[in-house]
Amino acid sequence: MFKQVSVIGAGTMGNGIAHQFAECGFEVKLIDVNATQLQTALQVIEKNLERKISKGLVDESTKSATLNRIRTCTDLVDGLLGSDLVVEAATENVDLKLKIFKQLDELAAPETILATNTSSISITKIAAVTNRPGKIIGMHFMNPVPVMKLVEIINGYGTDPSVTKQVEELAIQLQKVPCIVNDYPGFIANRILMPMINESIFSLYEGVAGVKEIDTVMKLGMAHPMGPLQLADFIGLDVCHAILKVLHEGFGNPKYAPCPLLSNMVMAGYLGVKSGEGFYKYDPGKKDLVVSPRFEKFR
Ligand SMILES: NC(=O)c1ccc[n+]([C@@H]2O[C@H](COP(=O)([O-])OP(=O)(O)OC[C@H]3O[C@@H](n4cnc5c(N)ncnc54)[C@H](O)[C@@H]3O)[C@@H](O)[C@H]2O)c1
Repeated sequence: MFKQVSVIGAGTMGNGIAHQFAECGFEVKLIDVNATQLQTALQVIEKNLERKISKGLVDESTKSATLNRIRTCTDLVDGLLGSDLVVEAATENVDLKLKIFKQLDELAAPETILATNTSSISITKIAAVTNRPGKIIGMHFMNPVPVMKLVEIINGYGTDPSVTKQVEELAIQLQKVPCIVNDYPGFIANRILMPMINESIFSLYEGVAGVKEIDTVMKLGMAHPMGPLQLADFIGLDVCHAILKVLHEGFGNPKYAPCPLLSNMVMAGYLGVKSGEGFYKYDPGKKDLVVSPRFEKFR
């Protein structure tokens, strides 16, 4: 079965996906257009492995074996050499993904399965720019990848059932729980999660409650491990915004339109954890959850 995987994009998700494959014994080529991002990704993977060691989940030899299985490169041709699977985890942008999949289709061996970790872009649309629609599939990992158990596997309209089966078995090999769904906007995870996040932002925007109150109601009242506004910061407000736009356009239903407050925050660069501020403020080295000063004056 699969021996070597190429992971495209070394951001939040790409580094986690590379980590999980390597820890489970696969050779990994991690590809990014940004060389600095590749170095950062390796540092993040090392730090996450050290955290697992401190919790007694893995030992030093697993850490070094995992890191030794990951090669980084900025060149796509080099990065695809010898891989029987590609998992694309580049920036969530339709034009970019279509361009990447056209390139992958030209460069990867014809039998290579091309998976995408997209949160919301149509698998069928991606498959349509390739000459191998049967081998295009969604492999939607959750953040943080080494911790979260679910892999949502998304069948495009033309995905070959044998490819789905192989990817399902692969997810189990990766110590994850696969769930197979069909390709409609947002699939299942984001079709349900994003309207909840959007509604929580509308509740803040309309002054129904403050950041802490909204998150506390959902944590204590619904037993969610994290409130929706904190989760939005964690996912990235730009990512949430992009997914809501896909749902809005895909279903043509105004109920999915992103809240204007979310649009403003994204335009202004308040993207959550990755930019240092969203609904909460994140100061390096501080662990306390502090509401952004912009949202302090509620009531
Ligand atoms: N962040 C999440 O919680 C989450 C969860 C599930 C799925 N996803 C999906 O995973 C994908 C990646 O999201 P992310 O949060 O890791 O994004 P990110 O912005 O953290 O990382 C994206 C990376 O892609 C790289 N990149 C851009 N163009 C490239 C190209 N042509 N070739 C190679 N690399 C390229 C960028 O340099 C960057 O390092 C998106 O499709 C997103 O929807 C994200």
